[in-house]
Amino acid sequence: MADLSTLKRLEAHPRIAEWQYPPSPLMQDFLQKVLSGFDFPGYEVRIHVIEIDGGIVGFISHTHWRQGAFYLVTCGWSLLPECWGQGIMSRSLRQLFDSFFADQVDYVFADYFHGNHRCQRLLQKLGFAPHVIPWLERCRKLWATRHLVWLHRMYLDRARWLELRGQKSSAQEKG
Ligand SMILES: CC(C)(COP(=O)(O)OP(=O)(O)OC[C@H]1O[C@@H](n2cnc3c(N)ncnc32)[C@H](O)[C@@H]1OP(=O)(O)O)[C@@H](O)C(=O)NCCC(=O)NCCS
Repeated sequence: MADLSTLKRLEAHPRIAEWQYPPSPLMQDFLQKVLSGFDFPGYEVRIHVIEIDGGIVGFISHTHWRQGAFYLVTCGWSLLPECWGQGIMSRSLRQLFDSFFADQVDYVFADYFHGNHRCQRLLQKLGFAPHVIPWLERCRKLWATRHLVWLHRMYLDRARWLELRGQKSSAQEKG
């Protein structure tokens, strides 16, 4: 079970912190509300923790909302550096995306800071493609976070996910 101090400890790791917005009281308050199951009007925000031997080594946050007829999810994630390079995050994300798309999600989005090649590669391997970020949203984020960084956004749609998963299972059957 995640608590705020565990998530703060993870996010404070220098190799994770360089790719996240700086901690702010607003963000702490938001995380605390998420952890206590608070309902944000129009949004469902959840945190999925990754545990190894009973210890929390990472987490994936996901926000679900609807835009017109579309069911959308935005995700962010972090993993302790000692666990990188073992496929832990890609396996966790695949499981989560299977459940999202089985649950009729249309699109999953993820943002990352310019220069975060590890995250970019992870997204590409999962089948994500580049998406635009409107200028108004860029300006709002800049104002809210006071953090001057160039953000990239990628997206994954259900058809692409099912196609990739189908290819993987038919390759497994053959192999
Ligand atoms: C982004 C982040 C989660 C990626 O972690 P990661 O461990 O590199 O990601 P993966 O789970 O995809 O692991 C990939 C590597 O594990 C290796 N691996 C080992 N066994 C594997 C397996 N069974 N399956 C898949 N990969 C495996 C692969 O060689 C792969 O390396 P490659 O991409 O060079 O082929 C991590 O770098 C992180 O927490 N960064 C800081 C925070 C951050 O950037 N968050 C994202 C912004 S929201």
